[in-house]
This record gives sequence, C-alpha cells and structure tokens, in this order.
Amino acid sequence: MIRPLTLADAPACHALHAICDTQTYWSTSAYEELISIHLGYGYFMPHLVGFILAQVAQTQADIIYIAVDPSLRQQGIGRLLVSQLSQQKDLEEIFLEVNENNKMALTFYSCIDCTSIGRRKAYYTRDGISYDAIILKKSFLPC
Ligand SMILES: CC(C)(COP(=O)(O)OP(=O)(O)OC[C@H]1O[C@@H](n2cnc3c(N)ncnc32)[C@H](O)[C@@H]1OP(=O)(O)O)[C@@H](O)C(=O)NCCC(=O)NCCS
Repeated sequence: MIRPLTLADAPACHALHAICDTQTYWSTSAYEELISIHLGYGYFMPHLVGFILAQVAQTQADIIYIAVDPSLRQQGIGRLLVSQLSQQKDLEEIFLEVNENNKMALTFYSCIDCTSIGRRKAYYTRDGISYDAIILKKSFLPC
C-alpha cells in the first residue's frame, strides 16, 4: 500500500535510509522536519519498505531521496513511488542528483526514462574521494 508519509514514519525512514546508505543518512528529527515541509510517499507491507521524498514547487519536483528495502528491490516499488509522485497535480518535470558512483540508482533512473542534463563536479565526497553528481530530469511534457 502506498500512502503519504506522516511524522510518525520519520523513525522508519531514518532506519531504512541507514540500511541503504551506511555513510550518509539523516536522523529521525531531520526526517520529521523533511516530512513536515516536503511531499513524501511510503510503500508499506505493512511496515515501511520504501519511500520517496520530494520538494515540489508548482510544476517541478526535486527528489530529495528515494529508497527501497534491499530485500525487495527490482520488484517495481521504486517505479511505483516515482509514479505516485508524478501524479501530483500540474507536475511537468522531476529533477534529481545522483552520485556518479551509484550505478544501481543510475540504472534505475535510466529504466524509468530519466535523462542526464548536467553534472556537478566533485559534489560528493566519500572516504576522501570526490565524485560528481549527475543531474537527471524526467519530463511529463509531450515531446
Ligand atoms: C534506486 C532504488 C530506489 C530502485 O528501487 P527498486 O524498487 O529496486 O526499483 P524498481 O524495481 O521499480 O525498478 C525499476 C526498473 O529499474 C530496474 N532496476 C532497478 N534497479 C536495478 C539494478 N540494480 N540493476 C538493473 N536494473 C535495475 C528494474 O529492473 C526496473 O526495470 P523494468 O521496469 O524495465 O523491469 C533502489 O535500488 C534503492 O533503494 N537504492 C538505494 C538508495 C539509492 O541509491 N537511492 C537513490 C539516491 S539518488
């Protein structure tokens, strides 16, 4: 079941993020703030197994983070979460940034028809190594 995230989901978002990215994840209180300000959807089975958070401004959305439980990946949950976000009224474009080293996410975004529109040099640092951010866009406008 997909439903909007509520403040009560913040601990589960924090826990899932910590599983997905052991180096950079946000605290429960950071998630409470993000959920209170931004738009989020969670996939529940019945506990949270995936979520998407996005900053929406008029016709555009920026994905802040998307995560799916590692044991349930490649079963369509990530695609469903993006699809749910895309149903937001008047939404025309989704933007996001992804680490050039995150091949799994890049494959996912390619599969859901995101296209690369730019690069931010040395945007991320991991273990002293710099990585570029690939800027991606998904458009819902007719070609
Ligand atoms: C990126 C992520 C959210 C994708 O979630 P998911 O539930 O596995 O994605 P889906 O099952 O909906 O996949 C959608 C498509 O992408 C493909 N895909 C997803 N991950 C893939 C992988 N690792 N290898 C190959 N294809 C992949 C699927 O096969 C599917 O293709 P299809 O619809 O043509 O069959 C998940 O891998 C994740 O949580 N990663 C860790 C967190 C992360 O890096 N987030 C992104 C930060 S920018």
